[in-house]
Amino acid sequence: MSERLQKVLAACGVASRRGAENLIRQRRVKVDGEIVCDLGRKVDMASSTITVDEIPVKNLQGLRYYMFHKPKGYLTTLSDPQNRPTVLRFLEKLPARVYPVGRLDMDVSGLLILTNDGELAKRLMHPSYMIPKVYRARVEGVPDEGALKLLTDGSLIIGGKPISPAKARVLPTGPDKGWLELTLTEGRHRQVKRMCAACGHPVIELKRVCYCDLKLPSHLLAGQISELTSAQLQTLLKKVGLATKDKDTVA
Ligand code: URA
Repeated sequence: MSERLQKVLAACGVASRRGAENLIRQRRVKVDGEIVCDLGRKVDMASSTITVDEIPVKNLQGLRYYMFHKPKGYLTTLSDPQNRPTVLRFLEKLPARVYPVGRLDMDVSGLLILTNDGELAKRLMHPSYMIPKVYRARVEGVPDEGALKLLTDGSLIIGGKPISPAKARVLPTGPDKGWLELTLTEGRHRQVKRMCAACGHPVIELKRVCYCDLKLPSHLLAGQISELTSAQLQTLLKKVGLATKDKDTVA
């Protein structure tokens, strides 16, 4: 059955209908090896090979959920006008086109959720759900009680707005001092770095170790991706009021 290309792409979870139209206009979509930029083009998913940025759009109707250990040195975008390395190179090997939920700065490593479930992603990022994110930060100096109070009691103003109360503790790391663990329920731009700098302890190194109830497993090395278990997924879905949605693993 033939359908308009943008409708097929949207149905496959590649992007919204409008987003798919943009991909077509940007000449990023090929059908049977040829760039298509005609929004009226009809295709038959069953008999055509469709690619976006050279990645085959397989049968993506199934919702997919992964955790990814983002290494430092990669942007959390799928393309960059300056051609810097992006996380796309790790996502390409997956059977489905998935997107990172939120962002980590280029020089930050750690846990990113990847999914093509737009509703879950939207809710996880929405401030009203107050999803906790745990970061380990190596900072200059060793924060004292005063600094910890400033980081946690909501009195710190960043970008003209007070931060939501957070949790912070100095990690008992022996001689390698200056490690902080921070738990935030907001996701403002460069928030940890700005908070730590504002209390006199600029960040040297930053890693996200938990997102919601998911912990970055020690066996998941930088650059590796693992699919969420049903239990992990149910916990996430429950947190944002989407529980008991079945995980569809159509390849
Ligand atoms: N806070 C930051 O400063 N950077 C990140 O990437 C995430 C949180």
